[in-house]
Amino acid sequence: MYNFTFDVSTKIFFGKGQIKNLSGEIIKYSNRILLVYGGGSIKKNGIYNAVVSNLKENNIEFIELSGVEPNPRIESVRKGVELCRVNNLDGVLAIGGGSSIDCAKVIAAGVKYNGDAWDLVKNRKFIKDALPIFSVLTIAATGSEMDVNAVISDISRNEKLGTGAPSTLPKVSILDPEYTYSVPKKHTAAGTADIMSHTFENYFNVNNDAYLQSRMAEAILKTCIHYGPIACQNPENYEARANLMWSSSWAINGLLAKGATQDWSVHPIEHELSAFYDITHGDGLAILTPHWMRYILSEDTVDKFVEYGVNVWNIDKNLDKFTIANKAIDLTQDFFTNSLNIPKNLRELDIDEEYFDQMSVKATKGNGRINGYVTLNPDDIKKILINAL
Ligand code: NZQ
Ligand code: ZN
Repeated sequence: MYNFTFDVSTKIFFGKGQIKNLSGEIIKYSNRILLVYGGGSIKKNGIYNAVVSNLKENNIEFIELSGVEPNPRIESVRKGVELCRVNNLDGVLAIGGGSSIDCAKVIAAGVKYNGDAWDLVKNRKFIKDALPIFSVLTIAATGSEMDVNAVISDISRNEKLGTGAPSTLPKVSILDPEYTYSVPKKHTAAGTADIMSHTFENYFNVNNDAYLQSRMAEAILKTCIHYGPIACQNPENYEARANLMWSSSWAINGLLAKGATQDWSVHPIEHELSAFYDITHGDGLAILTPHWMRYILSEDTVDKFVEYGVNVWNIDKNLDKFTIANKAIDLTQDFFTNSLNIPKNLRELDIDEEYFDQMSVKATKGNGRINGYVTLNPDDIKKILINAL
């Protein structure tokens, strides 16, 4: 296992009714905050009212930034920075999923930066400080509630980039699984695929002695495989929502990654799809993942796929190793398309080859390759994209 520092200090309040703790925590840091949320789901399901009445209990004043897009735009970040400055706000509270939380993070950092917020997205080293960040999570997916990461798009330049620094870790996050009852099937499914993808990105690594991280990853994968379809079919199943929500946080907060991993492979490719076509992140991941798996399967990687197939899918360990590996990949694809009803290929999302050359180069982020579990150069990336059509 490699050396590491694990420092994830977000205070989590998990479970029914935990919103009651929100303002008592915020007031320790801030009393005039920016409320950041998306397209209005929180007004329909009552979460907005619950948050606002709780803020009033501690006389926390707030200004609102609504309409944050799924795949949040840099324009929303800039608006938020401006609102904080003009109104002299000292904290940022996101209510929503990864999009609202990510937007809130870069707003919080942008207020402390003397320049355009896009600089912070392009280069995380520019983030030196941020206003305190809080979140009320409404969808299980990205893990943004308990990590430093933020992913922001500039659609005019077809760019979608990840950033983050220690100061963009939320101070407090409220995780009430009941708040996810109203998440539509499509986003429940995409969220489950995203949690699984974060887990795969960590699980498929070259470090064979991170045994503990691998077993924890398998537990998260099995949880998603078990509860994802249940939550899609029965949105108010508390157990399913709770298990998915907690999986979302632990798949990406460093638990699986620390001591174990290298660069991620499928996420940078998916971010190109979202940057050019504005698709739902989890849909892109679910489509690409089985094709990435098939592409990298070889004598060098087959043992990891056997581990995956036997431990996660309960495939007979006495079968030939490539049979196990191929079965595991088929089951993964079948799960995404038939159990979660996610589109099977890129054409179903109206994506064709037009930008694949550009995407394949951009996905390497100027390094000429993705240094993931298996190194991928632009030719490899293009082939994976073509296979996913
Ligand atoms: O905008 P509203 O009206 O709130 O509707 C949202 C949105 O349409 C809806 N929704 C969320 N909670 C709901 C609900 N609808 C009904 N009831 C609820 N309780 O769901 C839709 C998707 O929301 P969004 O926040 O976009 O989803 P998600 O959490 O999947 O976030 C996706 C973004 O996060 C980035 C993705 O790339 C994408 O931009 N990621 C962030 C990461 C991170 N911060 O660590 C890592 C990920 O890999 C990912 O890249
Ligand atoms: Zn993701």
